[in-house]
Amino acid sequence: MEVKFTKLERALKADTLVLPFIEGAKEIETDVKLKRVIKPALALKDTKGKKGEVSLFYPDREDVPKRIFLVGLGKKEELNTEPIRQAYAAVAKKLVTMKIDTASVVVPEIACDEISRGKRLSPAEIAGAVAEGLSLADYVFDKYMTPEKEEDKYQPLKSITFVGNLSKGVKETVREKLVIADAVKYARDLQNDTADLVCPEYLAHQAKTIAKEHGLKCTVFDKKKIEKLGMGLLLAVNRGSNLEPRFIVLEYKGDPKSKDKTVILGKGLTFDSGGYNLKPTKFIETMREDMSGAAVTLGTIKGAARLKLKKNLVGVIPATENMIGSRAYKPGDIYPSMSGKTVEIGSTDAEGRLILADAITYIVQKIKPARIIDFATLTGAILITFGDVVIGAMTNDDKIYETIYKAGEATYERVWRLPIYDEYRELLKSDIADIKNLGGRPAGSITAAAFLEKFVEGTPWLHLDIAGVSWLEKERHYIPKNGTGTGIRLMIEFLKRM
Ligand code: BES
Ligand code: ZN
Ligand code: ZN
Repeated sequence: MEVKFTKLERALKADTLVLPFIEGAKEIETDVKLKRVIKPALALKDTKGKKGEVSLFYPDREDVPKRIFLVGLGKKEELNTEPIRQAYAAVAKKLVTMKIDTASVVVPEIACDEISRGKRLSPAEIAGAVAEGLSLADYVFDKYMTPEKEEDKYQPLKSITFVGNLSKGVKETVREKLVIADAVKYARDLQNDTADLVCPEYLAHQAKTIAKEHGLKCTVFDKKKIEKLGMGLLLAVNRGSNLEPRFIVLEYKGDPKSKDKTVILGKGLTFDSGGYNLKPTKFIETMREDMSGAAVTLGTIKGAARLKLKKNLVGVIPATENMIGSRAYKPGDIYPSMSGKTVEIGSTDAEGRLILADAITYIVQKIKPARIIDFATLTGAILITFGDVVIGAMTNDDKIYETIYKAGEATYERVWRLPIYDEYRELLKSDIADIKNLGGRPAGSITAAAFLEKFVEGTPWLHLDIAGVSWLEKERHYIPKNGTGTGIRLMIEFLKRM
């Protein structure tokens, strides 16, 4: 999507104009000619300005646009960035269904004294939310669909002109939000595509491509190197697969003068059959989504590099399938981890924590970062806890939590913390090995985190369980069904606030 900026006078010549409208407002503060054509509709109360309500007028006058969309922003008191995103998502969907790929969009000007929930929205926040709503909603995964007619094919928005008295800072924010939205859509494509294509080597290829595009360093370890490093847990999970595992390290140095480094670790399980603790029908079908953490890692680094974010990041992805077969690992097996600790396999379906454990050991021993943030579709239990709405956070660092919580509120990729207490740690005790990969059904998300915690060796660490939010059964405003790309907007906001 191409983006342009202009003043209202010039936008009057556009074919399609989108005007914002606050619920209950008697008038729209805008150009006099526009006011005149809209007035009758407002008087008839045909459009009420409810959040996401989109209505269309054909003024049939030379001096105003041919089509005028009015978009409802909802009540003034409830106005915030999220209602704006949702309203402009509705606009994007309307435009796309009508096959209108070019439009001028008037950025809402909300007077500074109109305080939303005790907080003032800055012009940049408002315009940024408009850009996010428009771009994030303009997505479809139709690669494998054959349209009957050429015009049935999904046509994304081509060019959006942002209209208003926009400062340089506001324009920058709009461009930035569009770059981030591109990264989100990149991640969605990776999640949605088949596990047959998106295999460990494919993820490695993606990392290498990003590295090439932006001059980053990318190292990919093959099975031999993984054996040499002693990643016994990653190798155990990989045993049933015909495909070799990969261990991917992608480095972005946005602040070369600083020694501070953040590792973004992503679970790259390209298909989770459950292994011999095989997943049943209704649970197995979508398990190509089990690389969503990897998609977040790749998307975040791609976005950060395009934005030239002044942070040092290292993306780490352990990648493998979890399959069955005569060589597959079994419940009751014991495997050595890279850390030296031995692990009893309580369930072959609790494989995510195994591959992440070896990755964490690699990170603390070789990368030695200031902090580790891991993204993983780790437990079905988090879906029971939070549905597909909230990311589960577990951490050993209160300060990191505070920052991620606020980044979650700002982006609406919301995060809520669960505690790791000794009673939960106890549940991982094994009587034949150092630790077991299964804590039982109660507090399943927490015992999974407690398992990871055993490997972090005191490094500040935040675990984000994205099993609920990564995949939607039904679309929600600007979040499509299936792969959502959730976590990237959160992570970039977190990095900026850190
Ligand atoms: N990949 C799954 C978790 C998952 C579930 C992701 C639903 C996305 C949607 C994970 O590897 C898993 O199978 N976890 C088990 C752990 C259990 C065996 C302790 C689970 O949640 O049932
Ligand atoms: Zn599993
Ligand atoms: Zn899994």
